[in-house]
Amino acid sequence: MSTPSRIKRITAPELTARKGGEPIAVLTAYTAPMAQFLDEHVDCLLVGDSLGMVVYGFDTTLAVTLDMMINHGAAVVRGSQRACVIVDMPFASYQESTEQAYRNAARIMQETGCDGVKLEAGVALAPTVEFLAQRGIPVMGHIGLMPQSVHTYGGFRVQGKETGAARKVIDDARAVADAGAFSIVVEGVMEPVAREITQVVPVPTIGIGASVECDGQVLVTEDLVGLFSDFTPKFVKRYADLGVDLGKAAAAYADDVRARRFPTAEQCFGAPKTDGAEVRHLKT
Ligand code: KIV
Repeated sequence: MSTPSRIKRITAPELTARKGGEPIAVLTAYTAPMAQFLDEHVDCLLVGDSLGMVVYGFDTTLAVTLDMMINHGAAVVRGSQRACVIVDMPFASYQESTEQAYRNAARIMQETGCDGVKLEAGVALAPTVEFLAQRGIPVMGHIGLMPQSVHTYGGFRVQGKETGAARKVIDDARAVADAGAFSIVVEGVMEPVAREITQVVPVPTIGIGASVECDGQVLVTEDLVGLFSDFTPKFVKRYADLGVDLGKAAAAYADDVRARRFPTAEQCFGAPKTDGAEVRHLKT
């Protein structure tokens, strides 16, 4: 008996090995169907806590809970076979202590089956990255604009503009890499700073609003395909307008319903074609 062939998933160490090589393509996914559509095209699916804004309609990511991340993470793992799946640790699930971070990261790994976790961490949380990495949890760092710190910044602001700020972001990157992160998301930093970070850290940088010189790029899928229109950051490139298509489809459907053009016999079970014979048959 032949066993069904299984597609091997890309691992965190395989992504690390891509440093300086073929750029790594990452997209966010929050659901199983979206993961299915994206899986064969990207190297990594990120279950980002951006889902709080994109899916749940919150103004920031702070309201996202561990249970939400676990539910969406598990769905994305079920919907994909090939891409490395990384799940965000939400606000307040890892900042309190290294033990709290380990307990919650372990839950994410066990309950979703994902390949690693991501946390927003610079110098201050490098010990947490190290604690997890040394205990078998692949960690993707996230530096620069860290959306969970939005209230500290006073808004979503590009980081590393002044010399001191640039130095801080570079120090954050080094600290997270030294702590054992397998790759680092660099978000919303000045292009020359992102380029320098990519040169100085030994693990892949994944840019978003950063630099084409990063070792990979990530975007929120809904931004890329026009399914999220609350705001469009400067760093987004739109590749499709699915929101417009969705509106057109909904309007055409509603017109058909109101004009009794839907459903037709084709969409009905035993619908009368000419004289209702099938319906009479069903009733007997
Ligand atoms: O939450 C998220 O989707 C992210 C990416 C945008 C990097 O952190």
